[in-house]
Amino acid sequence: VSQTQLTSVIPPSQVIVHPDEVEQILAAHRRILTSGMLTNGEHTERFEAELAAAFGVRHAVASSSGTSALEMIFRALDLAGRTVLVPSNTNFATGIAVVNAGARLEFYDAGLYAPLGSLADRLDRADVGAVVVVHIGGYLSPDLPAIQQLCRSLELPLIEDAAHAHGSHSPAGQAGALGRAAALSFYESKVLPTAEGGAILTDDESIASTARALRSQGFQPGTDLHVLHANTWRMSEVEAAMGCCLLTSLAADCAQRTAAIRRYYAGLAGTSLSFPDLAEDDVLSGYKCIALLADPATREPVRRAMLAGGVELDREVYSIPLHRQPIFQPYRTGQAHPITDDFADRHICLPIWRGIDEATIDRVVDRLIRALSDQASPA
Ligand SMILES: Cc1ncc(COP(=O)(O)O)c(C=O)c1O
Repeated sequence: VSQTQLTSVIPPSQVIVHPDEVEQILAAHRRILTSGMLTNGEHTERFEAELAAAFGVRHAVASSSGTSALEMIFRALDLAGRTVLVPSNTNFATGIAVVNAGARLEFYDAGLYAPLGSLADRLDRADVGAVVVVHIGGYLSPDLPAIQQLCRSLELPLIEDAAHAHGSHSPAGQAGALGRAAALSFYESKVLPTAEGGAILTDDESIASTARALRSQGFQPGTDLHVLHANTWRMSEVEAAMGCCLLTSLAADCAQRTAAIRRYYAGLAGTSLSFPDLAEDDVLSGYKCIALLADPATREPVRRAMLAGGVELDREVYSIPLHRQPIFQPYRTGQAHPITDDFADRHICLPIWRGIDEATIDRVVDRLIRALSDQASPA
């Protein structure tokens, strides 16, 4: 019996915490609640050490959210007044963190991937202080090695928004360890959920120590002096304990979700859909399973047909990218964003979650093949 045969609609995603993990997390929470240390304790320290080891970086700094992790990175790099290049296809958080850190937000045209072509002639401008890449859905841009190389040659910090990409790796390396610093999110929908939370990953001692001060009211270490324009951006012990527990299965979960994505690819080969390239050795976080429609006009009819057939498609990443969002209009330069717009209008996100079973995937494939052929030959 598949996981979803008993429910009428296959959901777009699910938060799955196994019963043994629930017990482990509850046991840790009992210890925390009686320890008198609800924050700044051993679980946060342990989670940071284990994250750093898992991602192969020297420092991990846990935070209240992915958004605060991003803002702390931009503040630690002292980017106030400098330009930060951000892909127009990303979450609200990436853009607003730049603005809130006092830097100048400038969008570059990007779809699923950051294309070298959108960046190459902008990076050596004197006003540019950093460039951000966002691993949308957990997919890593094939241009990353070239972007890394260019940033290195210009000594320009490359920042990863890896909120979707815990556990993804490609020939470029492991997401979270590809630039000067990376931000993770542990929001409930993410591949490693702690309910709310985030982290900075970096080899840079100065970013890590500044971030530790920034998350805790900007005290000068060892004094009562507030010396930084900071905030309260800590992670609680309760969240860190959940993170420690779920981090142990992250690699296996990513392998399983990558296998699920490969099963979708195989089942839907020969349809009008196209998929991001996936090399044999690539591992995806599996935050999203993205497919591209040949015709954007078919997205809503396909979505409706899928729902009528018992499958709910996930929200896009993103259907309204930042350059089309009201709050970001002041940061537009008049430049067109054809790559972003095409991706925004054409992609769909297939159901995926931790441990999704093959029978469920096959049911989605079956419904999607029917929905696509109905579109190709409407009655
Ligand atoms: C690409 C991206 N960056 C950053 C964030 C912010 O993470 P959080 O919700 O933990 O603040 C998100 C959250 O959804 C995201 O999708």
